[in-house]
Amino acid sequence: MASLFILTILISFLLSPIAALPLAIESRAVSQTLLDQLSFYEQYAAAAYCPANNSPGSTTAITCEAGNCPLVQTAGAQSVLEFQDVGISDATGYVALDHTNGLIVISFRGSRSVRNFIADINFALVPWSICTGCSAHAGFLESWQSVRSIVQGAVEGARVAYPNYKIVSTGHSLGGALATLAAADLRKGGYTIDLFTYGSPMVGNRLLATFITGQTSANFRVTHAQDVVPKLPGYAFGFAHVSPEYWVTSATGVAVTSNDIQVSSGVVNFKGNQGTLGNSIDDHLWYFNNISGCGGDTLEFKE
Ligand SMILES: *[C@@H]1O[C@H](CO)[C@@H](O)[C@H](O)[C@H]1NC(C)=O
Repeated sequence: MASLFILTILISFLLSPIAALPLAIESRAVSQTLLDQLSFYEQYAAAAYCPANNSPGSTTAITCEAGNCPLVQTAGAQSVLEFQDVGISDATGYVALDHTNGLIVISFRGSRSVRNFIADINFALVPWSICTGCSAHAGFLESWQSVRSIVQGAVEGARVAYPNYKIVSTGHSLGGALATLAAADLRKGGYTIDLFTYGSPMVGNRLLATFITGQTSANFRVTHAQDVVPKLPGYAFGFAHVSPEYWVTSATGVAVTSNDIQVSSGVVNFKGNQGTLGNSIDDHLWYFNNISGCGGDTLEFKE
């Protein structure tokens, strides 16, 4: 498995000059307001790693024992749905209401073992009827579909009660992949949902990435430095990425300023994280803070 992983990286690298499309960096900085948003929703993604926030039956205040979601705690966010280890891929996360900011937030946890997740990630694409010619990563799609009805039910209930609230889907790593598929699917069903992902792998083929990119709600695909996970499963295997990318260039452990975020677009894009030669797990685990700080390292993602 490790050798497949190395092969992916090698092939992606070798193909990069010929696969690159004409793309530009749109901006070498973002506004302070956008930085604040990216940093805020990261805390909702971080909170999905904390077991108390995804224990079924306990719809409670969202808190992070690792201390990495203070803004969410201050907002007094409360879950309306918590789910844990659903389906063969152990989909885990919550849906929360934030009355301070007028939000309905869907958040998915990443894998408890990032190393196993990286080593075991496979390349299987399966057709997804959401759009013509579209395919999604088989394991990610199965995982999303295992919780689709309960998540949609919670979101619908919240929307009926709070029709003016903004709906946001978020997650880190595998959780970012699930957040992307959730947003795509629920938008297709008529919801307006902004998407904030952190270190998400690629979720499907070019047609799917193009379809999601073109949906009317906003996409914020955040990557960090030389994070290895957004490079997987790999453009070389027919995968592509939701656009645009917000590439955080500051070092792991260092506070992010608005000047540290470069924006670039394209479903095949080498202007951001993908253009880096390194493959870092440390960079994967640091998005504004220690994003998986609540997570243990016991479970692995099963496909
Ligand atoms: C992040 O949190 C995990 C789990 O608490 C801990 O093991 C790790 O050392 C932390 N990493 C950093 C960079 O603080």
